[in-house]
Amino acid sequence: MECRNITVIGMQWGDEGKGKVVDALARVSRYVVRFCGGANAGHTVTVGSEKFAMHLIPCGILTEGVMNLVANGVVFDPSVALEEIDSLRARGIQVSPENLRISAAAHVVMPWHKQADILSEKSLTDGRKIGTTARGIGPCYCDKANRSTAIRIEELLEAEAFGQKVRLIAEVKNKIFAALYDAEPMDAEAIAAEYIGYAERLRPMIDNTGRILRKAIRAGERIFFEGAQGSLLDIDHGTYPFVTSSPVTACGVPAGAGVPPTAVGQVVGLTKAYTSRVGAGPFPTEQDNESGQYLRDRGQEYGTTTGRPRRCGWFDVFAVRYAAELSGVDELALSRLDVLTGLQELKICTGYRINGQEAESFDPSLLHKAECIYETLGGWQEDISDCRKFEDLPAAAREYVSAAERLIGRPVGLIGVGPERSETIIHHTQVEGLR
Ligand code: GDP
Ligand code: IMO
Ligand code: MG
Repeated sequence: MECRNITVIGMQWGDEGKGKVVDALARVSRYVVRFCGGANAGHTVTVGSEKFAMHLIPCGILTEGVMNLVANGVVFDPSVALEEIDSLRARGIQVSPENLRISAAAHVVMPWHKQADILSEKSLTDGRKIGTTARGIGPCYCDKANRSTAIRIEELLEAEAFGQKVRLIAEVKNKIFAALYDAEPMDAEAIAAEYIGYAERLRPMIDNTGRILRKAIRAGERIFFEGAQGSLLDIDHGTYPFVTSSPVTACGVPAGAGVPPTAVGQVVGLTKAYTSRVGAGPFPTEQDNESGQYLRDRGQEYGTTTGRPRRCGWFDVFAVRYAAELSGVDELALSRLDVLTGLQELKICTGYRINGQEAESFDPSLLHKAECIYETLGGWQEDISDCRKFEDLPAAAREYVSAAERLIGRPVGLIGVGPERSETIIHHTQVEGLR
């Protein structure tokens, strides 16, 4: 049977505009699935004048008839999820077991994970700090790998055993925090009671999401995998150690969702028409100057999750081509082309010089040594947010898009010219239902 599934992944350091594209593609899918990361993600969907910032709940929740799954690869913070669910319901969005299921095998972010994230970052000297989102992501994945100190969602459902486990783990964590950070002990009873309360509310939505997906595959239903973070933040293939703690490329889908690799389907790689990064780590095309400030101001580049100002710089197609290879990207979605309006000239980084030699291929571990090789293109001054066809764009903008296609070696399927749902140009997409 032909696979009509779609996987959307970020190709930079996150915040490429996945929320908007996921929202567009949800209309043509039956399932929308989060498979990696946790509440470190912040996916924005703008519908008319309404803005939704999603952290844990898949963006398909805004589309009627879609079943949203938070799969096993996600680290799940019940307090953030319930806050998000309440806020969605208060805005008239239905959230129920009819349209949201959470994997019983996903791991639970506990208060000690968030505390460890904050205390560990504080204790690191400058230059070694990761600049995490403080959502407890790394410490929760650590415990997942450690096993004996981990808690899965399914364990929340057995209150007595859960309470006992919380007491045991809290004792271990309290000893570690006291020894390493001289921190006050956490109250295990209060934590157990709080999480048992969450469990009661979540119970009807807890399920075996892998089984649901494999059944959907057998039935030929269309699944859409919603990536989080970006390829350069991938635990293995990103700019380690300045990365997140899960596999976030399309390669993360099978393990993170419990489906075979053949279920990944068509891969849409999302990239901004420039580059941004929050948190620490190398960023060769960063413009810590007027151009960078222009992009930050015009693009309102402040974190959806933490509100931190994002670092901004020129479009790095050398890095994006690497991300395209990693995930087997079929087509690109180019977001935020409108943000470039008003700049006299635009630079695209086509390669790096490392120790004076042009690098043959992109190596994330050498970025701190990279000197960028740029191609310079002309800018445009016209407002492009009303353009709905490629032909409507000024010539310089069309050239910029074509340069991206040529240099990355993939067609640009969609072009973003504004944050709103409708502010999209359908270009060379092969995605059925969007063409
Ligand atoms: P995500 O994490 O990849 O979902 O991206 P974020 O939501 O963190 O950040 C992307 C921001 O860009 C959001 O505020 C979106 O509303 C906005 N956005 C997405 N596409 C476009 C676009 O084409 N143009 C403009 N101006 N904004 C966009
Ligand atoms: P979305 O899905 C941008 C970054 C953090 C930090 C590093 C590690 O919205 O694109 P973590 O809290 O994961 O341990 O932080 O990863 N980071 C993101 N940056 N967008 C994200 O998600 C991110 N998720 C994590 O800023 O540099
Ligand atoms: Mg984001």
